[in-house]
Amino acid sequence: MKFFQKLDDFLDFGWAQICRGKFDKKSPARHPTFVTSSHDGIPNARTLVMRRSDRKNNQIEFHTDTASSKMLDLKRNPRAGIHIWLPKVKLQIQMDVVIEIKVGDTIIPIWKNVPTNSRVAYGTIPNPGSVIESPFAYDHAPDHKRFAVLICHIESIQLLLLGVEHIRANYKKTNNWKGEWLSP
Ligand SMILES: Cc1cc2nc3c(=O)[nH]c(=O)nc-3n(C[C@H](O)[C@H](O)[C@H](O)COP(=O)(O)O)c2cc1C
Repeated sequence: MKFFQKLDDFLDFGWAQICRGKFDKKSPARHPTFVTSSHDGIPNARTLVMRRSDRKNNQIEFHTDTASSKMLDLKRNPRAGIHIWLPKVKLQIQMDVVIEIKVGDTIIPIWKNVPTNSRVAYGTIPNPGSVIESPFAYDHAPDHKRFAVLICHIESIQLLLLGVEHIRANYKKTNNWKGEWLSP
């Protein structure tokens, strides 16, 4: 079991786990929960695949269909919450992020790197979440115009480690990631 006395070491550990999301398909950090707010204030949570993490620039990245309901939420309110629970190391990671949406020609190089069989996720007909007559009454029409890259600019990271003694800390970009211990 990990033991941390220093805020910086604890944040390093948190980032090491976040980065595993991209490179380790078995890590739970591969599938964070991504939470948006709908126009009526109701939270919407769903699982997304972590596509990229970048500690230097405080970013993580997801890909989605431009016609999905999360896009509507994000256009109204670009703030989102990210949640990851890593049972093996007993670490919960929560992040507040502001989303930059990228679509169109500038992301064609990223689209070209999406494996052909994965492209079906971007272009379902009718739009994701539409009511349909039967379970398979939908079609796939992969289309780069339906592909969106969600760059998450991280504003804060909160870590909770369930060791013999629980420890919890919060780190804010506005505080230059200095961090402060919190009562668990
Ligand atoms: C393991 C797993 C991985 C998923 N990965 C993605 C993803 O990378 N991008 C995505 O848009 N949806 C992904 N989904 C589907 C979403 O959870 C969600 O159902 C879909 O994006 C529609 O969300 P919305 O209607 O709330 O916008 C994934 C679902 C699961 C269970």
